[in-house]
Amino acid sequence: MQQKSQNRARPRGRERCAAAAALTLACALLAAPAAHAAHATSGPAQAPSIEETSAADSVAVLVNPERPLDPIDYVPEDLVDVDGSGAELVSPAADAAEELLAAARQAGHDLVAESGYRSYDRQSELYRGYVAQYGASYAERISAKPGTSEHQLGLAVDVGLASGQCSLHRCFGDTAAGAWVAEHAEEFGFVLRYPDGHSETTGYAYEPWHLRYLGPEVTADFAASNAETYEEYVAALETAADVVSEPLPSFLPPEPGTTDDADPELERVRQDLSWLPHWLAEGPARR
Ligand code: DAL
Ligand code: ZN
Repeated sequence: MQQKSQNRARPRGRERCAAAAALTLACALLAAPAAHAAHATSGPAQAPSIEETSAADSVAVLVNPERPLDPIDYVPEDLVDVDGSGAELVSPAADAAEELLAAARQAGHDLVAESGYRSYDRQSELYRGYVAQYGASYAERISAKPGTSEHQLGLAVDVGLASGQCSLHRCFGDTAAGAWVAEHAEEFGFVLRYPDGHSETTGYAYEPWHLRYLGPEVTADFAASNAETYEEYVAALETAADVVSEPLPSFLPPEPGTTDDADPELERVRQDLSWLPHWLAEGPARR
């Protein structure tokens, strides 16, 4: 699977839109993820529905400080142990985690699952412990409040070296094993959910050990998109859903030569967007 920085083959939405203030709705679509991108990966890319990004029992649910679980004390079904580690995940995520750990071992990295599912009460205990140790403002950068953790979904696993070196510390990202995880997690349907330099968006400090299972389809679509975080990806999906619920003819470019608009700059932008209806037609899963 390609890394984010290499996924730049499609026209860059924000760049193209810089001079096209009149076409903001179309520009929102240009910045949206690309389910059909040619360089997608280990499986068919498939964007989730907006409903799936909000449902606690969906593999695609977005949970963060602003989007708590519903219900807040949600407990997933079908939790199973990962590799005899004591860490549990929901069944498909557990299988994928075991495959990832086995592949890491084959590549010479002795990785283990350090933490998986955590109940509302367990997360509460952890969070209160961090507050007592570091104070609230630091605690909330490194730990989710109860009811807002991906661990409560049974879809997040913290991995670390069996030796304990750099356990749950940012230096894990600098180890060979951490680099392997960053490079290969997507092949198993996991994403690094809290990347370095994106705390303002995710709400959390860099966590190179925290892997979120999104499943192969959504992971492939996310990987092929311009989004650096799952927050950005879901925001783009929401924007695209809003746009396509508008009457399309109001912003879609007309057939070349059929417009009577006298503004040459607007006409140039419309010509430039002539591929957009085709792209929309290719992405029915998004609507
Ligand atoms: N450390 C992550 C943010 C959690 O507590 O879920
Ligand atoms: Zn974690």
